[in-house]
Amino acid sequence: MNSAQKVLAIETSCDETALAIVEVELSAEQITAHELDSELFSQIDIHKEFGGVFPAVAKREHAKHAPLLLEKLLKTHSAEASSDTTPETWQQIETILEREPGMYEQIKRILSTYAKPDIDLIAVTQGPGLEPALWVGINLARALSLHWNIPLVGTNHMKGHIFSVLLNQQEMQFPALAFLISGGHTELVEMHSTSEFTVIGQTKDDAIGESYDKVARMIGLEYPGGPKIAQLAQSARESGIGSGPISLPRPMLHTPDFDFSFSGLKTAALYKIREFEHLDDQTQMHIAHEFEEAVTDVVVAKAKRALESHPYKTLIVSGGVIANAYLRSRLEQLASKYGIPLLLPKIADSTDNAQMIAVAGAIAAQQNAPHINPDLKAEGSLAY
Ligand code: KG4
Ligand code: ZN
Repeated sequence: MNSAQKVLAIETSCDETALAIVEVELSAEQITAHELDSELFSQIDIHKEFGGVFPAVAKREHAKHAPLLLEKLLKTHSAEASSDTTPETWQQIETILEREPGMYEQIKRILSTYAKPDIDLIAVTQGPGLEPALWVGINLARALSLHWNIPLVGTNHMKGHIFSVLLNQQEMQFPALAFLISGGHTELVEMHSTSEFTVIGQTKDDAIGESYDKVARMIGLEYPGGPKIAQLAQSARESGIGSGPISLPRPMLHTPDFDFSFSGLKTAALYKIREFEHLDDQTQMHIAHEFEEAVTDVVVAKAKRALESHPYKTLIVSGGVIANAYLRSRLEQLASKYGIPLLLPKIADSTDNAQMIAVAGAIAAQQNAPHINPDLKAEGSLAY
């Protein structure tokens, strides 16, 4: 079967409000995806004050920004609306949006101004994620699906990260090993097709991104600290100062499994930091460097163990932490040593976005015929 479809996708699982229109072509041999347009509002500046993401604040910001991003997309992708919506349909939409204050009025105005864009499917992140935040995207998607009479598919956020590599025009060969490293997840997933996922290992406590963010906070860096630690570590590497006197453990480096634990590393970093009355710039760089080396050593060792355990044909690594340049280069070395194609998302597609949800949505829709689904529900702990 060969079919191209245009997917409007909505992502609101955490602290990015994102919408995109992506054309996805699914054939028996391969999947190609072309972004047609995308809009993203990052709530990071708002959450910085709290040092992390507060679900109620995230929900409020999604409800405020999702309609505005939708309007931006519709401005370029749809003609003027003809006003043929029945009072019953508006009533249904009002009921769908009743939990998001102000959103119904916004959406009614937008849908009365712009016609249905040229899309075949709506995809929305159903989980995993923060439920109050997920609901905003889901309710918007339900309203649009109903109003435009377009099928709606609930999409798994983690599958979205896995399929984000397809936005980079790369081909997946199975069995594939997908390594997910984000703010909420650290897991190794074996894939036998685009619909068969088995988690073979995961973190017992903190996710990698979470540990980056926590250690960053300990040395006085703002949320999200991942990119800031990476910057400091890079300066330490380039200037040759490295880790200096700091050494940290590599938890579970040699355990005969595919599991992880990062809370011990975080605590070890905390004890080191406490040894200093004042953290000067150089010490901050040493800590960031050593922490990044420790995390990277564990990631590479576990990926190596997994590659040795099974004849995988593709290694996929995705999730926000793969924006990290040093980790990318270490994984590239590993993949070339094993002669296995390494599929990474573009840096810009590494952190949360709606393009990846469009691709995962199109794949999910091919497997389960989607429909106008007014009953779609958020699932904070959605599994594969
Ligand atoms: O995938 P993502 O955007 O959101 C979740 O689904 O969790 O991942 C966000 C995580 C944050 O913890 C952030 O600090 C981390 O990815 N991150 C990085 C880098 N860029 C983002 N960690 C290390 N190095 C980076 N360059
Ligand atoms: Zn994510």
